[in-house]
Amino acid sequence: MRIVKTAVAAAVAFSLMGAVSAQAEEIVIKFSHVTGGSTHPKAVAANEFAKRVNEQMKGKVRVEVFGAGSLFNDDDLLIELIKGKSVQMGSPSLSKFESITKKFRIFDLPFLFDDINAVNRFQKSEHGQTLLRSMEKKGILGLTFWHNGMKQMSANKPLVMPSDAKGLKFRVQQSDVLVAQMEALGASAQKMAFKEVYGALQTGVVDAQENTWSNIYSKKFYQVQDGVTETNHGIIDYAVIVSKRFWSGLPADIRTELETILTQVTDERNKLSYELNQANKAKIMADQNHNVVRQLTAEQRAAWKAAMKPVWAKFEDQIGKDLIAAAVASNN
Ligand code: LMR
Repeated sequence: MRIVKTAVAAAVAFSLMGAVSAQAEEIVIKFSHVTGGSTHPKAVAANEFAKRVNEQMKGKVRVEVFGAGSLFNDDDLLIELIKGKSVQMGSPSLSKFESITKKFRIFDLPFLFDDINAVNRFQKSEHGQTLLRSMEKKGILGLTFWHNGMKQMSANKPLVMPSDAKGLKFRVQQSDVLVAQMEALGASAQKMAFKEVYGALQTGVVDAQENTWSNIYSKKFYQVQDGVTETNHGIIDYAVIVSKRFWSGLPADIRTELETILTQVTDERNKLSYELNQANKAKIMADQNHNVVRQLTAEQRAAWKAAMKPVWAKFEDQIGKDLIAAAVASNN
């Protein structure tokens, strides 16, 4: 009897100790992304999210941001997030989800969205929110969308008409739509991690690339190219995602608090992404040695559109005509 009592007392003491230490233990969220710089929309948003969580949830949750691909590139991030151990959160571009879902291909259709406001309307619609939740079965939860902006093209030669892209090798993100888009121009495409792009452009492994002003500036791509052509032909935006395994293990009140902070940061930062990209463009134009930015006339831009838009038909059945129509309608 005495032995049983002692064992029970020891078990109680042990479980109390466990509770105390569990309470004292801060939940750590490692947030991985691939961009950097103090004026990059994603880098700023991720840092702001971490700052607010670390202030408002001090002692309960700590967010550690690993930018510039310092923890994982985006391909590895998706694999690791599903496991949910070495990283808990991230924000890859919507073009990098091919291995998880083909539904995000809609975001890569060239000349689909007129501007970032149209993208915003579509993402906030029922269609957009359904897309965000479409990865749950794979172990990834989409919490929100973050904006970067419209894509521009750069190459080691002037790009004015679509025929100028013929024969060039473009670096693209991990997206079959983007490969098809470059092939429609008579160019070829090589999928490549963001971290490798500058070196590949510099050494001539690839000739050209497409990206937003903030990516082109923060990664200095413009310094190893002939110039940047303002095509605004597509978008780079992000899904803020968490490991489902990790997220579902959190207490409900912690999840709610994190979601509230994320919504505040998203609303504030998304409104500023356009200005940030314009500021990055201005910085490129102020670089006396590498300031070539080419504007297109309405006719020239129409020629790019005519050359690239046939890509829609290739992916239409898979993406769904209704979904494409809904995205087009968000332009109005
Ligand atoms: C790229 O790889 O070009 C972009 O997805 C990088 C980013 O996250 O904006």
